Parts: sequence; C-alpha cells; structure tokens
Amino acid sequence: METILQKKTEINMKEAEDTKQYIYIVQASLEPSWCKIGKTNDLDRRLKEYNNITGKSKENIYQYLFACEVQDMTQVENDIKDKYSVFKQVKSKEIFLYNTDAFKFYIDFIKSHKLFIKEIFTKTEEKKEDIKIVKKTTPPLNERGITRKDVLQKAQKVKNDEFYTQIEDIEKEIAMYDKNIWKEKCVFCNCDDAVDDEKDERRTSAFALYFMKNFKELGLKKLICTHYGGGIDLFNQGAKGYIYTYIFTKDGFEGIKEYPKGYTGSFDDPLSLKILNEEADIICTNPPFSKARDYWKILIESGKKFLIISNITNVKNDAYIPYFIKSQVWTGYNSVYEFLNPKKEKVRATGRWYTNLPVIDRPKSKNIKFMKLKDIPEKFKKYDDTKILLVDNGYIPSNYKKPFAVSLAPILNGILEMGYKIVQEKQYRPYINGKEVFGRILVQKI
Ligand SMILES: C[S@@+](CC[C@H](N)C(=O)[O-])C[C@H]1O[C@@H](n2cnc3c(N)ncnc32)[C@H](O)[C@@H]1O
Repeated sequence: METILQKKTEINMKEAEDTKQYIYIVQASLEPSWCKIGKTNDLDRRLKEYNNITGKSKENIYQYLFACEVQDMTQVENDIKDKYSVFKQVKSKEIFLYNTDAFKFYIDFIKSHKLFIKEIFTKTEEKKEDIKIVKKTTPPLNERGITRKDVLQKAQKVKNDEFYTQIEDIEKEIAMYDKNIWKEKCVFCNCDDAVDDEKDERRTSAFALYFMKNFKELGLKKLICTHYGGGIDLFNQGAKGYIYTYIFTKDGFEGIKEYPKGYTGSFDDPLSLKILNEEADIICTNPPFSKARDYWKILIESGKKFLIISNITNVKNDAYIPYFIKSQVWTGYNSVYEFLNPKKEKVRATGRWYTNLPVIDRPKSKNIKFMKLKDIPEKFKKYDDTKILLVDNGYIPSNYKKPFAVSLAPILNGILEMGYKIVQEKQYRPYINGKEVFGRILVQKI
C-alpha cells in the first residue's frame, strides 16, 4: 500500500516538474470595470477557451492583462482571492474589480508572493485618444445669455477642480484615527467617481478605492459614492450623476451603480442631501475647490462626522474662521502636498485634512514653542501699528494675556486644543509702519 502511494507521489511530482503553472489576469473588452484572475497550465489554451464561450458577443474579446509563472498556482490563486476578497464580485468566484489602481495592487501582490517565479506579460497603459465632439447646433452665446468671459471663467473653475487625491495620503491620515470610529458606519464620499466613469477608469477616486480595500478591516456597514455628472446637460441626455452603493457580504462585494432620473450627482442635489442627512455617518472626500464654501456650509450644517481635504489656508480665510471659533471643525493630522492631475501626473498641492473626528496626541503639537514673552528671540516677535503682538516661527508667549497674532503653523499644529482660542472672526491683517504685512489669525489664551 505504502509503495503504491509513494509511486503515485513520485509520478505526480514528475508531472508537476514537466507542467508549468501560471497565474493570469484577463479582461473582456466590453467589461472594462472587471477582470478575471485565474490559474492555468496553458495560457494559450485558456485564452482560446475564454474567447470561445458560447453566448459571448463577437465584439467582446478577452485579452490578458497580466500573466506570470508561479510555483504553486492553486496556493497563489487562493491567496490573492483571500487578500482581495473585497474586490470580488458577489456572484462570481473569479471576477474582480478592475481599474488601474486595483490592477496595480493585484500585480504587486502576486509579484511579491514567495511562490512567484517570473513575469510573462504585463499590459501597459494605453494612451486614450481625445474624442472631439462637434455640436453644430449649439446656439450662439448671446442667445444663451452668457458672455465669452463667463464661459472661460467657468472652464477655468472646472479645470481647477480636476485634481485627485493619492491613496497614500488617505492611508496616512486615516491610520492616525481610532479604528473603532468606522465600525458599522456608512461612509459617504459625495464628490467621487466610484469605480470608473465608463470612459476613463483612471479617474476612479482613491477614496472609493481606499474604503473598498479596507471595508472589512474597518468594519464598515456601507460605502456610498456619488459622482458629479457636470452641471450642464450638454445634449439633453439627462444629468449623468450616479450613486454607487457598496456593501460586503460573506460571498464577496456587491456594488450597485444607479443613475436616478434627473440626478446631477452634485453634493447639493436633493438626492445627495437625502443620503447625507439620512444615511451617511461619516463623510470623507476632497470636494471641488471652486465650491468649497458651499460644501463646508452644507457639511457642517448636517451635523455629521467628516474627514475631508481642503485648502490649507482655510484656517485664516474669513469664510471658514467662524467654524474654527465654534469648534465645529479642526485640522486633521496631515497636510497634502501633492495631487494627481487628470493625466495622473503629480502636481504640487496646498491641501490639508479637516475633521470633527477626535484628534488625539497630535505629533506636530510639539513644534509649538511655549515660553515667556521675554524669552522669545527678538526677530520672532514684533508689534504692529496698533500695538498688537505678532509672533512667528512657532513661538507662543505663554504668559501673555492679551490677543496676539500667529501664522498658520500653530493653528495647524493644534494650539486651539491647548488653551487658546481665535478671537476675531476675520483674518487679522497687520500693518507695520503703514505697510501691510502678511495676514494672520488673532488668538488669545483662554
Ligand atoms: C478636487 S477633485 C477631487 C476628486 C476626488 N474626491 C479625489 O479626492 O480624488 C473634486 C471633484 O469634485 C467634482 N465636482 C465638481 N462639482 C461638484 C459638485 N457640485 N458636486 C460633487 N462633485 C463635484 C469635480 O468634478 C472633481 O472631480
């Protein structure tokens, strides 16, 4: 008995040596939001099998996105399915979410697997062609009651809004908070492309991706992402905003994309407000810069918890200072120095996280230098023309009872949580010898 078993094992081992094992990622041309991850001993044969599926349309061509040789394909396949189960379609064992970021996760995981042998093929990103749409029947500007300047200004504003957050910045910030705050919560990303916008999956929001990827780990109940279809209904196709709802079941994830009639996807659309007020627990996004004031107003009035990115200078901007005075918002842990432009190139940014979630033990608070006024070096303290004290370089006069002006840094580093308050609802604009110097925030010891 033992000898037969031994013999069988030897044969199996010999076969295994002769047969190479592959892991592949394949995609159908008509289903750009999905891919299949599988294993095979014969890549050519498997691709032919995919392309011969009965009932499949002729235009739906399967192509490999990635293939590699591994030592134990079943093990690697199981590991990847386990690791990315949150990206797995609920109805299928092998269909996974596809977009450029998710694809990168899969490949990085496979390539760093201890059973990985060598890469056979990786599809490089194709350059998408710009499609020019010429609409001959557009009425002239005067008939539409707008000027050329209005159009240019609007175009510039829209362009300035199209910057995207990198997933690393989201990971870095969220890692700072107590994980329990997310448990059983519905996260609402109300300015985000959830999976793709059908034409360009490169625009998938890193917020959506982050929460899908960490859905189980954070213990979320639901993720809702709403996508802005643009304010103008160009060809009377109906507003193209959508709502993406994502839940996780024991069988995998279930993502439903809905295009309600007339829904713009704007954060102030009645349907978005309904989700905000009735379903959302925590709002998390990077809202459009051009509409940040309206966005903050709606968000703060909702009374919901939030963690968002906005301009770092908001803490000394007249439109936002009242929120800081009323402790309706405070700064998060990190600044955001880079965004991605629509071509996925890194560009410099002046972003900052803002929140009303508990911020505990701010590491940067130690950059605030408390000391008696007389000990602050002369070059970092001066009085303006109205005898208000201005202090710079992170110095705070701990024995000073009157209001004094500080720059952004102490506010960002948490001075409002350390016994100081803002005492003027507007930015403080000091003059020295009749000349305006840079604007600050007027604070006072409580
Ligand atoms: C700064 S980008 C950030 C996108 C994404 N949240 C991220 O962090 O990568 C702001 C996005 O808001 C979208 N947007 C513009 N107006 C909007 C509105 N009224 N409601 C919702 N989103 C809007 C823009 O199209 C743009 O993609």
